[in-house]
Amino acid sequence: MPQKYNFEYESRIKAGFIGCGGHSFRNIYPTFQNAPVELVAVCDINRERAETYRKMFGAEKAYDNHLQMLQKENLDAVFVVTNYENGRARYPKLAMDIMNSDCHAWIEKPPASSVAEVQQMMEVSEKTGKFVMVGFKKTFFTAIEKTKEIIESEEFGTPASIYVRYPQHLPDIKDRNDDHKMLGFLDHIGHPGSILHYLMGKIKHLYYEREPINGGSIATIKFVSGVVGSLHLTSGQSGTSPLERVEVIGRGCNVVVDNGVKLTYYRRGGRGPGGYGRSPDYMGNNEGAPLYWEPEFSLGQLYNKAIFMLGYATEVIYFAECVLNNTPPEKSNLETALEITKLYEAYKNDSGQIIQIN
Ligand SMILES: NC(=O)c1ccc[n+]([C@@H]2O[C@H](COP(=O)([O-])OP(=O)(O)OC[C@H]3O[C@@H](n4cnc5c(N)ncnc54)[C@H](O)[C@@H]3O)[C@@H](O)[C@H]2O)c1
Repeated sequence: MPQKYNFEYESRIKAGFIGCGGHSFRNIYPTFQNAPVELVAVCDINRERAETYRKMFGAEKAYDNHLQMLQKENLDAVFVVTNYENGRARYPKLAMDIMNSDCHAWIEKPPASSVAEVQQMMEVSEKTGKFVMVGFKKTFFTAIEKTKEIIESEEFGTPASIYVRYPQHLPDIKDRNDDHKMLGFLDHIGHPGSILHYLMGKIKHLYYEREPINGGSIATIKFVSGVVGSLHLTSGQSGTSPLERVEVIGRGCNVVVDNGVKLTYYRRGGRGPGGYGRSPDYMGNNEGAPLYWEPEFSLGQLYNKAIFMLGYATEVIYFAECVLNNTPPEKSNLETALEITKLYEAYKNDSGQIIQIN
């Protein structure tokens, strides 16, 4: 389907925005160029920033208090991209204020600093009938969406195991109750965590070992479905290295995503004829040859803009469509937030044992 531009949609949601900071400037406000969103009002506790963003992104009003914005404006939904307060995510309180004002909410990650806070948001969502979507962008990456399609295909069969690698430091056990020291881990665990959850479902239990040199770790994971996985948090890798790698193994086939964009599907197949020690040629037949995709960077396309490849535009468009249709999001919702925050708490409260999650 050709992607519409903002002004081409027949209906658009009336939206407010809380937070006029760096990430939202680079990656979220610009997605509205292609989303059915009419930006009505923006808000930041820094009034000057709010005024600047109002002008820059074409909103009518600017506020420095989100409660005033919610009270005065007639909004369908509010986007929230804020920073931390005393090392804790501000999203739960803001999302609950938004739902209590009869609006749906889209919040950035991390959705909360504890499982209890996610459960509070779920209660308010249940009570108000309003929903919250969380910006777990990795589940909207073009290559991860394609991976999901491949591993769910009949041809691939049942996915049996997964490997996810992401560079993230885990503080020493003595610092795990310090919100400031855990902030980096909380901020990023949703990236690999949401890929694991999206592709393989809920985690049953896990066990991990941490190395003391960089605070990197390797976890062995069992999913509720019975399949297994490994999360390699590669703190200590070079700053020049691509950050991540995802691999899902089926039966006689596997799919690999490198650097978030290069996707190789090793279909069921084999190398040249002759058998072990007798094959003079490493090519198999074309039917079983690997399929490989990478973006091209010649054309001024949408697909090679980071906001599309990295899922920002697609997640915002998906949310806006959920609001227009009054249908709660099936992905990246509060249930997802709950599972990711359970994973965070599993690492945080590690007792050195196998950790039960579900
Ligand atoms: N998904 C991604 O790829 C990605 C990348 C970077 C950052 N993020 C997330 O985006 C969020 C923001 O990060 P950032 O680097 O842009 O932070 P930032 O500090 O640049 O911006 C946050 C803004 O929110 C404002 N703010 C805070 N509390 C507020 C409130 N109650 N009402 C109104 N305004 C308020 C601040 O004044 C600030 O301008 C974080 O949650 C971060 O984890 C996500």
